[in-house]
Amino acid sequence: MFSKTVYASALLSALAAAAPAPQVPGYSNGDASGLSTPPTGAPATVFGPDSQVPEKAIATSAPTLPPRRSSILDGPTSHGPFSGTPTTTGAVTANTTLAQMIAPLPPNPTATYYNAQGVLLNPAPAPYTPNGGLGTNGTEPRYLVNSDFDFESIALGLYQEWIELDLFNNGLAIFSDDDFLEAGLTAEDRSYIAFMAVQESGHATLLSNMLGEAAPPQCTYDYPFRTVREFIDFNQKLTRWGESGVWGFINHLDSREVGQLLSQSIATEARQQMSFRQMLGLHPMPVWFETGIPQSWAWTYLAPYISSCPENTTRLAWQNFPVLHVVNQPNPNRFSPNDTKPNEVVGNRVADPSDSLIPADESCVNLNVTGYACGPAIAHNRSEPLSFPGKQVNFTWDAPGQAVGPNNSYVTSTSAGTPAFVAWVSQLNLTYTPLTITGNNSGFTYQPASVVYQGDPAANDTMFVALTDADIFLTPFNLSMINPHVAALGLYQAG
Ligand SMILES: *[C@@H]1O[C@H](CO)[C@@H](O)[C@H](O)[C@H]1NC(C)=O
Ligand SMILES: *[C@@H]1O[C@H](CO)[C@@H](O)[C@H](O)[C@H]1NC(C)=O
Ligand SMILES: *[C@@H]1O[C@H](CO)[C@@H](O)[C@H](O)[C@H]1NC(C)=O
Ligand SMILES: *[C@@H]1O[C@H](CO)[C@@H](O)[C@H](O)[C@H]1NC(C)=O
Ligand SMILES: *[C@@H]1O[C@H](CO)[C@@H](O)[C@H](O)[C@H]1NC(C)=O
Ligand SMILES: *[C@@H]1O[C@H](CO)[C@@H](O)[C@H](O)[C@H]1NC(C)=O
Ligand SMILES: *[C@@H]1O[C@H](CO)[C@@H](O)[C@H](O)[C@H]1NC(C)=O
Ligand SMILES: *[C@@H]1O[C@H](CO)[C@@H](O)[C@H](O)[C@H]1NC(C)=O
Ligand SMILES: *[C@@H]1O[C@H](CO)[C@@H](O)[C@H](O)[C@H]1NC(C)=O
Ligand SMILES: *[C@@H]1O[C@H](CO)[C@@H](O)[C@H](O)[C@H]1NC(C)=O
Ligand SMILES: *[C@@H]1O[C@H](CO)[C@@H](O)[C@H](O)[C@H]1NC(C)=O
Ligand SMILES: *[C@@H]1O[C@H](CO)[C@@H](O)[C@H](O)[C@H]1NC(C)=O
Repeated sequence: MFSKTVYASALLSALAAAAPAPQVPGYSNGDASGLSTPPTGAPATVFGPDSQVPEKAIATSAPTLPPRRSSILDGPTSHGPFSGTPTTTGAVTANTTLAQMIAPLPPNPTATYYNAQGVLLNPAPAPYTPNGGLGTNGTEPRYLVNSDFDFESIALGLYQEWIELDLFNNGLAIFSDDDFLEAGLTAEDRSYIAFMAVQESGHATLLSNMLGEAAPPQCTYDYPFRTVREFIDFNQKLTRWGESGVWGFINHLDSREVGQLLSQSIATEARQQMSFRQMLGLHPMPVWFETGIPQSWAWTYLAPYISSCPENTTRLAWQNFPVLHVVNQPNPNRFSPNDTKPNEVVGNRVADPSDSLIPADESCVNLNVTGYACGPAIAHNRSEPLSFPGKQVNFTWDAPGQAVGPNNSYVTSTSAGTPAFVAWVSQLNLTYTPLTITGNNSGFTYQPASVVYQGDPAANDTMFVALTDADIFLTPFNLSMINPHVAALGLYQAG
């Protein structure tokens, strides 16, 4: 009893007593044995009754229960390709389009603040309140989209949240507990995936509320996976473009309030992405920065997996680019990714997962060898990396003009000329390598060795590749100016 009733004062004095002496002068020869004494004795085998929290527990309940827009769809729902005829075709367009592309401008003339001394340069509006910021002058927040740009961006985000809600539940519904166990995932892992699905119902509600009555509803989907590994692989890809799609536009939103709430939901999506990587036995985050991509990229990746949407579903204004296929896409199910066969993916859509049904003696899934194992884990080292700078990467790409997306009602398009470069988008960087064309719609390049900062190879993680007709210089905040130059768009499994 006494051992469980540890009071704060006792804790503090215990901490003070254990405060470490000045430590070793450097980071070598780690030996912290003098800093603490490991507890002895056997672990607990009896788990109760617990001590009661004295006079600290009251009966309480949530004052309100704000409704979610959707139910938690957790059974098998209708899925599969669309086979009808679209009733409408093409992205939403404005009545007037002012130019074929955005022209570059010099820096904003008012963006001149520089503070070499690190002191306050302007009168402070209130104590402890440095001058500046947006939405800091007392105006009441308005959590509603505030431009066509905002509307289309959040509507795209909502299409994404809806597929995630369906997708996570769908994998749980169609695969058996034993299927999950074979992929190294336990009942606790399944509950975790189910929890992530429920998170999506909250995200979908939030985004719907910020859009208003035209917010798109949930649609019907067509998934590419056949196994639990492929389900997890597809999830880590889908959440990668879901997350990166938001990083690409969030700081361009007119409504800072919407950006505020959106960032608080995308932080959760980022955790989902990392968790799915861990379930696939990939390094959880082999990068220092998560990248942002334009909305039309996120829509290009997402649309092929939406088969149909209900009548009157609000349509999107974003572009669908032709698909860029990575012929030798490294297969994360192989202990030797170098041995990946051409087109070793389960289908020909842009983000189809890698084939998990390779021969058992080539697979890393059930290995228990450090450096080679790729079962679920907090982190794995890969002795043979998925990919590496200098690797020849072969591509094929689709012609534009293909029907994709809900009810096959969007059409892939490009305004680019003949592709001449491969654009690698990851972390904070856009790197171009020359494309060598080998056929009408095929070619190759070599993976670049560029780094973000010394020690951080730029190309890693689940990342983005495009064919372009020019190598214009762009940075994270003006990356969308690449769109008129994009001939085809793909995903690259670099690590
Ligand atoms: C766009 O054109 C349609 C059809 O001509 C018209 O009904 C609509 O009001 C126009 N919208 C705007 C914003 O001008
Ligand atoms: C307060 O700041 C907002 C931008 O955040 C601006 O639109 C508005 O004009 C400002 N209001 C006043 C009274 O300065
Ligand atoms: C898409 O197809 C479905 C199924 O045929 C149909 O119910 C729905 O109305 C269509 N949606 C649109 C936007 O045309
Ligand atoms: C779709 O919109 C039309 C026109 O506003 C309306 O008549 C129809 O009832 C709507 N259909 C659905 C399923 O909401
Ligand atoms: C993996 O191998 C280690 C060392 O041989 C062993 O302790 C561990 O139990 C094995 N784990 C599994 C899941 O087989
Ligand atoms: C894991 O990889 C790191 C970095 O490449 C290396 O320093 C470390 O020794 C590796 N650990 C194991 C257990 O292979
Ligand atoms: C994979 O291929 C590259 C390029 O040929 C080679 O340098 C590397 O050693 C190979 N990896 C292994 C583990 O053999
Ligand atoms: C990606 O990061 C992992 C983990 O640090 C590393 O093992 C791998 O070599 C990296 N890949 C590239 C292409 O740098
Ligand atoms: C790329 O394709 C060429 C031609 O088909 C082939 O010779 C080469 O081995 C391929 N490279 C890789 C890394 O698969
Ligand atoms: C490229 O296209 C042309 C015209 O369609 C065709 O004649 C030719 O055989 C194609 N070449 C290759 C390598 O596929
Ligand atoms: C990558 O991004 C960093 C940070 O913006 C920049 O300093 C660096 O020059 C970029 N590297 C390349 C090769 O573009
Ligand atoms: C994008 O921004 C960079 C500065 O970060 C600038 O140098 C470049 O010219 C811009 N590109 C275009 C096409 O405006």
